[in-house]
Amino acid sequence: MIVLPRLIAHRCGGNRAPENTLAGLHEAARAGCRAVEFDVMLSADGTPVLIHDETLERTTNGVGRVCETPDAVLFSLDAGAGERIPTLAEAAVLCQRYGLLANIEIKPATGHEAATGASVARFVQERWQGLPPLLSSFSAEALQAAWRVAPALQYGLLFEAVPADWQRQCGAIGAVTLHCAAGRVTDALLAEAAAAGVPVLCYTVNEAGAAQALFARGVSSVFSDRIDLLA
Ligand code: G3P
Ligand code: MG
Repeated sequence: MIVLPRLIAHRCGGNRAPENTLAGLHEAARAGCRAVEFDVMLSADGTPVLIHDETLERTTNGVGRVCETPDAVLFSLDAGAGERIPTLAEAAVLCQRYGLLANIEIKPATGHEAATGASVARFVQERWQGLPPLLSSFSAEALQAAWRVAPALQYGLLFEAVPADWQRQCGAIGAVTLHCAAGRVTDALLAEAAAAGVPVLCYTVNEAGAAQALFARGVSSVFSDRIDLLA
């Protein structure tokens, strides 16, 4: 059974560093975090990279779609505070070095769902060292493609609001965790998940009182931008 810390640093290092950067992983480790979440998408060259949006404008000084941008351009951009967009390979090295549990959120660009899921799963299966990561995605297509490539990896179902057939979906890919928006989790769902032995993880929780209330109701872990939330 997967061992989950209560706090998972959101987008690498929460608000301590630009989102989805190696600086965030250094910050998370320095703050004593034991788990991190980050978003992974494919570049035009098919390289898995850490970025949240399909387009570059919000988090970098670039323009256009990530999936249409070649590596040579992507890695020349500033992702905030002089940080570069990291590759999944670079993030993997730091997770191993710091002993961080990684929740790799597969974030496919529209139209690239299966390719992204398959690529991330192949990378993890062939190259990941250290603590086995947890792979999740809002895209069922991406998650199923990942599972077909690497059925032995750890998967988590990720929803905003959890659908009624979540246990069937869990069973289809052997998912070990259930992730959903903190504001959408219900006590009925928590009871079902507890009975099924499936930990529930909630995003994005930035108030300590809210986190404690969720734990009291049975939530296992929260994703937070405040990596000192439970200190
Ligand atoms: O994986 C949990 C959380 O990161 C999902 O939302 O939009 O921050 O990727 P988002
Ligand atoms: Mg995410």
